Amino acid sequence: MQFIVTPSQVKDARVTVPGDKSVSHRSLMLGSIAEGRTEVSGFLAGEDCLATLSAMRALGVSIEQPSATEMSIDGVGLHGLRVASGELDLGNSGTAMRLMAGLLAGQDFSSTLTGDESLSSRPMGRIIKPLTMMGAAIESDCDGTPPLQVAGGLRLKAIQYEMPIASAQVKSSILLAGMYADGTTSVIEPAVTRDHTERMLGSMGATVGVDGNRISLVGGQALQGCQVEVPADLSSAAFIMLAAILAENADVLITNVGVNPTRTGVIDILQAMGADIRLENPRLLGEEPVADICVRSSRLHGGAVDPELVSLAIDEFPVLFVAAAAASGKTVFSGIGELRVKESDRIAAMADGMRRLGISVDESPDGAVVHGGRFSGGTVDSFGDHRIAMSLALAGTIAAGEVVVEDVAAVETSFPGFTACVASIGVDILVSEA
Ligand code: S3P
Repeated sequence: MQFIVTPSQVKDARVTVPGDKSVSHRSLMLGSIAEGRTEVSGFLAGEDCLATLSAMRALGVSIEQPSATEMSIDGVGLHGLRVASGELDLGNSGTAMRLMAGLLAGQDFSSTLTGDESLSSRPMGRIIKPLTMMGAAIESDCDGTPPLQVAGGLRLKAIQYEMPIASAQVKSSILLAGMYADGTTSVIEPAVTRDHTERMLGSMGATVGVDGNRISLVGGQALQGCQVEVPADLSSAAFIMLAAILAENADVLITNVGVNPTRTGVIDILQAMGADIRLENPRLLGEEPVADICVRSSRLHGGAVDPELVSLAIDEFPVLFVAAAAASGKTVFSGIGELRVKESDRIAAMADGMRRLGISVDESPDGAVVHGGRFSGGTVDSFGDHRIAMSLALAGTIAAGEVVVEDVAAVETSFPGFTACVASIGVDILVSEA
C-alpha cells in the first residue's frame, strides 16, 4: 500500500481524531485486573490496541465490544487471569509487549509474548533488568529482543529503581509488576514521562504516590472497575496540526484532544517555532485533561529545540522534522537518541525521506539538524513505521510535486481512518496498491 499526495489546499475545518493509544491499552489491562466492570468509550480500534484486546481475552477475560470504540470489560481481579493456550502476539506494539511483560511477571502461570518483525527487533533489556531484580524470570533472544518467555509462579519483591532512560513503558511495566510484589515499589524517572498508568490506577481506587520524580505504589491493592472516557490522541492530532500549520490560510479545530501535560511537548515546541496554536475549552475527562485545539497556518522559524521537552513529545518528532523543513533557518534537535529504537530508527527514516524530497538533514547519534527548504516531489519509504508514513505524506501537501510514500499499511496501528480524516480537511491523498 502506498500514499500518493499532491500539493493541497488545506481549508478551515473542525475534525475529531481517534482515541488515545496509550490510554486505550491501559484501559484494557487495568480493567481486566480490576474487580467489576470497566466501561470504555472512545477506545482506539487500531491494530496495536486490538492486539492487547486479543491478549487479554486469551488470558481469560470476557470483554464485549458494543461498538468499535466501546469496550465492556468484566474484570477478573488481581489474581483472576488464566494461562493462555498459545503465544500472545502483540503485533507492532512496544507498549503492549513491555506493559504485558510487567503484568504477566506476577502471575502464577507462564506466558510467551511475540510480535511482528519491527517489534521483534526492539530492546526489551530495559524491562527485563528491573523485572528480574523484582524476582521475575524473563527470557529473550540473546540480543535482548522478543519473543519473551515470562515465567509464572514466582514471588515478586518490591524494588526502588532509578531508570537509566526516560520511558513511560518501562515505568508502567515496573508499576504493573509492583501491583503483584510484596512491599512498596518505587520508580525514579530521569525526566517526566506520560503518566496515564498512574492516573488510571488512581481512578480505579489505587493509591499511587508521586513525590517529584519518584512514583511509588504498594503491592496487592485491589482495583475497582470504572468508566474510562478515552480522549482523542494528541499524537494523532499532531498530524492534523501539522497540515494546518503548513497550509496557506487554514483554521482548523480538533476537538476533545488529550492535553495531559506529560504529552504536550509538541505544542510547546511548535509554538516556540512560531505556530499559532490555542487550547480552548479545557476540561477533565475522568482523570485526563482535554481541550479543543485551534490551529492556524503559520510561518515557522528554526532554532534549538529544548531537550527538556523531548520526553514530553517523544512520538511527535517525525511531525516536528517536517515542520522544521518548512521553517526558515535551521532547527537543531538534540537528546533524541530514543527515536532510534522506536517502530523504526526514526532519525534515520526521517532523514532518508526528507533528503529524497530535497531537504538537507545532518544526523548525529542522538540528534539531527534540519535545514529549512522546499520539499520537491519524489518517492519515499516509511520503513513500515506509521508515524513516518503520515509525516512524510503531509510533507506532500506543500511539495513542488507529487509525493509517494511506500509501505503505509502500519498507519492502521494507531490512526485508522487517517486518509479520510486528512482528506476531510483538504489534503489531496490517494491510497493505492504498490
Ligand atoms: C508509550 C510510551 C512511549 C511512546 C509510545 C507509547 C506508552 O514510549 O513512544 O508510543 O503508552 O507508555 P517510551 O516510554 O518507551 O518512550
